[in-house]
Amino acid sequence: MTHRPRLVAPLVRVLSACVEHAPRDTRGLFRHDVAVIGHRGAAGLAPENTHAAFLAAASLGVPFELDVTLSATGEVVVIHDDTLDRTTDGAGYVDETPWCALSGLDAGSWFGPSHAGEPLPELGEVLRHFGPQVVVDIELKSPRDPALRQPLAEAVCRLVAEAGLVDRVFVTSFDPYLLEGVRAESPDIRRGQLFGSFDGADLNRMEKFVLRNLLLNGKAVADLLVAEATILRRGNVQRWRRMGYRVLAWTVNDPQEMRRLVDIGVQGLITDRPDLALEVLGR
Ligand code: G3P
Ligand code: CA
Repeated sequence: MTHRPRLVAPLVRVLSACVEHAPRDTRGLFRHDVAVIGHRGAAGLAPENTHAAFLAAASLGVPFELDVTLSATGEVVVIHDDTLDRTTDGAGYVDETPWCALSGLDAGSWFGPSHAGEPLPELGEVLRHFGPQVVVDIELKSPRDPALRQPLAEAVCRLVAEAGLVDRVFVTSFDPYLLEGVRAESPDIRRGQLFGSFDGADLNRMEKFVLRNLLLNGKAVADLLVAEATILRRGNVQRWRRMGYRVLAWTVNDPQEMRRLVDIGVQGLITDRPDLALEVLGR
């Protein structure tokens, strides 16, 4: 548990009052008061961020989250890590690998032999296939090179527009500059600011303070706040809801924790096990 000086919370509230907060209504994106959102597709049921994982979520009728980054040749690749090593049979940085090499990789074998040969997805293809069925939460990963922030934001916005899904997706990021880029390029796409405890992160106290209090930041001008489940309490959830934000929690796989979050007013559970979350919610 992190102990913050007593003055910090009121100070954050005062300072955040000076920042533009104009969250828009996101009810059109969700069919239920508490949304179930598959994490990296449905990472507990199939290899994360692959067609199989997206199919698992879409078959349950739930929205899903995925992670995107740029290839060396500018395609928007769906993968969580900067590198290929953990989830594919390739190696090295995604942003140093051209699409012609990425498209031949196996992103499923690491999960199990029945998923051998699952390709690495490209965002446009995922949006065309699944976008008409379920809402997609597109998480933009911070490029290693900050100069690639705007190209990534622009490429994502272009694919969303080409798929005709401006009103049917939302974007999320830990990086307010990426959300600012989306806001500049396609202001109508709903934006979610990600944040967490950053307890294990190799950052100094001030950096953690800033990251934990992104309401002080006027760049993203978010519609949704997407917080690490462990930092959510009834007080902050209700305060943010009163400000007009939709509050989602990541990544929650334990049924007891799902019930706690719903009880304190969280409006969406991002989970590797959307099947379990639906069961907890009695759907
Ligand atoms: O949706 C939020 C969650 O996906 C953020 O964490 O590391 O799984 O991308 P990560
Ligand atoms: Ca993610």
